[in-house]
Amino acid sequence: MLTIFEKLKNIALDIDKAIKNEDLGYSEHQNATGDEQLKLDVVSDTLVEHHLSDLSLVQAIISEEKEEIMPVNESGKYVICYDPLDGSSIVDVNLSVGSIFGIYEAGNLSGSGLRAAAYIVYGPRLELVLAVRGRVPRHYRSGARGLFSARSSVSLNEKGKLNAPGGTQKYWSPTHKAFIDSLFAEGYRLRYSGGMVPDLHQILLKGGGLFSYPGTQDKPKGKLRMLFEALPFALIFESAGGQAIDQEGRRLLDLTPEHIHDTTPCFFGSDYEIDKLKSAYGIHDG
Ligand code: AHG
Ligand code: MN
Ligand code: MN
Repeated sequence: MLTIFEKLKNIALDIDKAIKNEDLGYSEHQNATGDEQLKLDVVSDTLVEHHLSDLSLVQAIISEEKEEIMPVNESGKYVICYDPLDGSSIVDVNLSVGSIFGIYEAGNLSGSGLRAAAYIVYGPRLELVLAVRGRVPRHYRSGARGLFSARSSVSLNEKGKLNAPGGTQKYWSPTHKAFIDSLFAEGYRLRYSGGMVPDLHQILLKGGGLFSYPGTQDKPKGKLRMLFEALPFALIFESAGGQAIDQEGRRLLDLTPEHIHDTTPCFFGSDYEIDKLKSAYGIHDG
């Protein structure tokens, strides 16, 4: 795991440089989900591939930007699923973006097979958060000469103050709209940039709140992909003492995608907000 972590630092430094210097225009292609690919999506994907494909403990890599699984070493222990550049629609306006990684046991591409997860935030500073299953997530920041130093562990309070509601409001269900309104009525403040990495990072470092991306009329299965986005953040939120569930109240970490690019409705938060969501949606535990 340590070797993978060392690679993530190099990936962070390389993609950070690419964001600052490369062409931000569109490539001529779409990815597996049908999104227009930016040249930067492709460059970032190639950088991650370059760094991860020389690790013998990696059996295969699966990218949001690649249609198929890419084999690396048949006898490797892990499959790494990643979104090389999350937030491609806001990189042109210079908002923070990120990369997300899920490190799965080979042969078990599911929430239960997720051993570790990490994300990188490319913001005014370069930061990295790493969660190994069973341990509290750690937060790192890069400093002089690209060296990363540990900041602190990441842990959520029982309740937060921030509300990051994703999805097109016009297509929210009445239940979801009423629930989001009730949080604002309670005093929650809107914090939504359109990049799940900085939005979730903010909730994690400020100690709590809710990020939601529900199933909507136009996207019944939500937008966020299980292997590259929802499950890695689910492990990070649970490891920080929070919760991560889908619209039926199932733990995201209990889910298994049928296809590598499957999406799921998802909710990440501290206990208070997720419990409130469950009661608004009529979900009963157990
Ligand atoms: P990507 O750039 O990898 O396609 O994903 C962006 C995601 C996520 O970061 C963000 O929370 C969500 O898309 C924003 O979606 P909306 O524009 O529908 O709010
Ligand atoms: Mn993404
Ligand atoms: Mn992406």
